[in-house]
Amino acid sequence: MTSPLRLGIAGLGTVGAGVVKIIRAEAELLSARAGRPVTISAVSARSRDKDRGVPLKGYAWEDDPVALAKRDDVDVFVELMGGSDGPAKAATEAALAAGKDVVTANKAMLALHGQALAEQAEAEGRVIRFEAAVAGGIPVVKSLTEGLAGNNMTRVMGVMNGTCNYILTRMESAGLPYDEVFEEANKLGYLEADPTLDVGGIDAGHKLALLASIAFGTKVDFGAMQLEGIERISIDDITRAADMGYKVKLLGVAQMTGRGLEQRMSPCLVPATSPLGQLENATNMVVLEGDQVGQIVLRGAGAGEGPTASAVLSDVMDIARGIRVSTFGRPAETLVPATAANELQPAAYYLRMDLQDKPGALAKIATLLGEHGISIDRMRQYNHEMSTAPVLIVTHKTTKDALDAALDGFGATGVVATPPVAIRIEEV
Ligand code: NAP
Ligand code: HSE
Repeated sequence: MTSPLRLGIAGLGTVGAGVVKIIRAEAELLSARAGRPVTISAVSARSRDKDRGVPLKGYAWEDDPVALAKRDDVDVFVELMGGSDGPAKAATEAALAAGKDVVTANKAMLALHGQALAEQAEAEGRVIRFEAAVAGGIPVVKSLTEGLAGNNMTRVMGVMNGTCNYILTRMESAGLPYDEVFEEANKLGYLEADPTLDVGGIDAGHKLALLASIAFGTKVDFGAMQLEGIERISIDDITRAADMGYKVKLLGVAQMTGRGLEQRMSPCLVPATSPLGQLENATNMVVLEGDQVGQIVLRGAGAGEGPTASAVLSDVMDIARGIRVSTFGRPAETLVPATAANELQPAAYYLRMDLQDKPGALAKIATLLGEHGISIDRMRQYNHEMSTAPVLIVTHKTTKDALDAALDGFGATGVVATPPVAIRIEEV
């Protein structure tokens, strides 16, 4: 029999325990598919006594993940602890230095240190694989690096944080305000230990930065990501946008433009009838666009034990089969620094505001927008009993600079009761 592929797994939480379960339950299937057994030599976590819901007898235990990473009986170091720095990074570096391949689900570590780690891996003749780091169970990294390798990618976008999509769709379906649904998500265990990673768009931004590197051959540049979270989205935005035929999504978009690489993760409106608009609850969706293939839509579970462990196994199985792909789909030394686009592609915008209900108020806003070259596509004023009138405007395409300049002038018109909310409308 061919020699087994021996794993050292650091981190036995949701994902790590899930990986151990699959390897135990599906040993025969994995061995048949890989042409060699996939075994676990050693594991590591903080607490040795914790019940992981799966037997660990028979595996060596290491308190220190760095020691685990260097063990002679480990071929592949599987990093499932999390955290951009600290033990995850130290153990990954140690594993590569000791000649091990690495499989990780850690988007934070790769978004911040991916280039250096990829260079180290290649210098050592090793691979780092990270299918589970982006959109959980959806095989999006494999699709981009392998399935679409013959394409010039034109755009990558998607909903890549299940927690935010749950919050936004639940606000709409139950008519509940953000704070209440945030608490619900917390009780359901959806939120990261630091919830700003989810609702601030950071977790999804990490994922998009990794996909952008593969798609456009650029060094991962999370620092250049334009980030905005969902904290300021109100139930009013969600219901009014629905009236106009849109859904609010925390949408990531990466595209190479004439001005450079545009990378943004922010609340956007998408048509309610589009696949992205119909995405409910904690599901993820990634849309890949290539010059030859056109548009591909991938949809599935972006988190959770089974889906994420499934993605980890995809990488493990590739290594077992001898499939060795560069971390970001091409040699790390050939990745180029991304020139960040200094201006976003023009777009239509949704503007929600409360106007003083007095003659000429609407005219003043229309004039202000016109002065900045912004044309109105649609407009709606809602019934009201107060002295202010809720007004919605959908603009034609305009630049973000023109919009910002116009928004700066709203206060001076003397007719706006509250600062207007502006949300980009994405063509999907
Ligand atoms: P988790 O449930 O919090 O588990 C983390 C594990 O790492 C725990 O077993 C913990 O040990 C162990 N650990 C933490 N610090 C350690 C240290 N210094 N030394 C040894 N072990 C240490 O996290 P998770 O949800 O499984 O996530 C793991 C990774 O997968 C993260 O990078 C995360 O971003 C990524 N990911 C998760 C999901 C998901 O759905 N959960 C989806 C995609 C990607 P103890 O158990 O003893 O505390
Ligand atoms: N917090 C992440 C989410 C987990 O909600 O999608 C998966 O990366």
